[in-house]
Amino acid sequence: MVAEDAILGFLQSQDEIADSHEFAAGLGIDHTELENVIKRLNGFEIIDAQDFKKDNYLLTEEGKLYAVEGSPEVNFFLAVPPEGISLANLKITLDPKVFSIGSSWSKKNNWIEIAKGSVTRKVDAVEDKVKDLLKGIEDGKFVDGNDVAELLKRKLIVKQTWKGYKLRKGPKYVSKRKKAATDLTREHLQKGDWKDLEFKEYNLNAQGQPIQIGYLQPLLEVREEIQNIFLQMGFEEMPTNNFVESSFWNFDALFQPQQHPARDSHDTFFLKAPATTRDLPEDYVERVKRVHEVGGYGSKGYGYDWKRDEADKNLLRTHTTAVSTRMLYMLAQKKPFMPKRYYSIDRVFRNEAVDRTHLAEFHQIEGVICDHGLTLGDLIGVLEDFFARLGMTKLRFKPAYNPYTEPSMEIFSYHDGLNKWVEIGNSGMFRPEMLLPMGLPEDVNVIAWGLSLERPTMILYGIDNIRDLFGPKVDFNVIKNGPICRLGLQ
Ligand code: PHE
Repeated sequence: MVAEDAILGFLQSQDEIADSHEFAAGLGIDHTELENVIKRLNGFEIIDAQDFKKDNYLLTEEGKLYAVEGSPEVNFFLAVPPEGISLANLKITLDPKVFSIGSSWSKKNNWIEIAKGSVTRKVDAVEDKVKDLLKGIEDGKFVDGNDVAELLKRKLIVKQTWKGYKLRKGPKYVSKRKKAATDLTREHLQKGDWKDLEFKEYNLNAQGQPIQIGYLQPLLEVREEIQNIFLQMGFEEMPTNNFVESSFWNFDALFQPQQHPARDSHDTFFLKAPATTRDLPEDYVERVKRVHEVGGYGSKGYGYDWKRDEADKNLLRTHTTAVSTRMLYMLAQKKPFMPKRYYSIDRVFRNEAVDRTHLAEFHQIEGVICDHGLTLGDLIGVLEDFFARLGMTKLRFKPAYNPYTEPSMEIFSYHDGLNKWVEIGNSGMFRPEMLLPMGLPEDVNVIAWGLSLERPTMILYGIDNIRDLFGPKVDFNVIKNGPICRLGLQ
């Protein structure tokens, strides 16, 4: 404020401030500090500032010494008495620098003569022009260009280029500036000084404050988009709020034999406590046992000894198809039969080695349609519809094997970004060995498909390490700074 008041006050009585450096020196403040004030006032057009370059000269250490003690040539000259002196004598009495520099300059100036080892004066008196020039420069006096060049050459001064300003009144000049108000307060209204207030202009280019709200994790965001697609297609959500499942619902009811490698503890997490399930629908368990052992419904079964103990074992569900199976069983108990479309998106667990693309848990998206007379054509049609809504229009199907579906198909989609076919899911028609023991009518078929939520999310967000998507290493800022809205899924 001191500098601002000083500039405005000065310009009230004077036309201009010719040199901001001198002005700053007069105020006893740093020029950079004054420069900030100048720029601000100039920006508001309160003053008009013209900048100029100014060459300024500073004395070197040697220059400062000569400004006080006189130049070496003069000191040398003064050491030579009118009658003359031997060089050897002078060398002993004089400072070595004064002796060497002084002797050569004295000679060059034609002040002395050196002959046969002795020095004599050629003039009676000399002026110390160098000392006077240096003092002049120190005091900021004007010095002739030739003299400056000479002093520069002798390294007694150095040049510094400064930016200075010439200041005049601007179109919006005021002798004293009011502090612009940013808010109209209760106090302003009470005191009545609001009438004289000048308000700071709005800065419409200022960035808004970041909004302090919750953010959706990418998985949740994509889950919501997929959920909306299922809802648009008339699917109902299945209750998936049980991570713990019995082997019966996870495997046996799906006609998955008890010796199947997936039921090994290398692939499945079994529970220690509670290690077994307490209740299963006994008559249905009996029918499942029979279909495994001897078949029925046109099937030969697997022909092995089905063990109840194996079916009772609790585990962390390895797929959400366990939930679909429970839902289909419940649907079969309701008479008359009603066609249904079910979906779920929730977590499943597999005892797998963890790497860049695998964790021991992930999210599964599952769609199930149960209706009279469904065919593989219906499955393909529904898959094309579903994936088209996700932006994936180029699909291919490859025959595959699941113990519980026949036929089964792996689903591939052409990824334009990656320029290749990528596997995106698994599908099939549930086997009669699975559906008929539940009590579903014979002409009812179930088409279903499953895929992981992580895979499309990683592709969408360009994440190549699953640990950056899920788990303790996720960078919260990536989530915070993610786009609020994205158009299209692929
Ligand atoms: N359960 C299968 C899996 O875990 C997905 C699937 C669901 C396959 C429904 C066919 C039918 O990969």
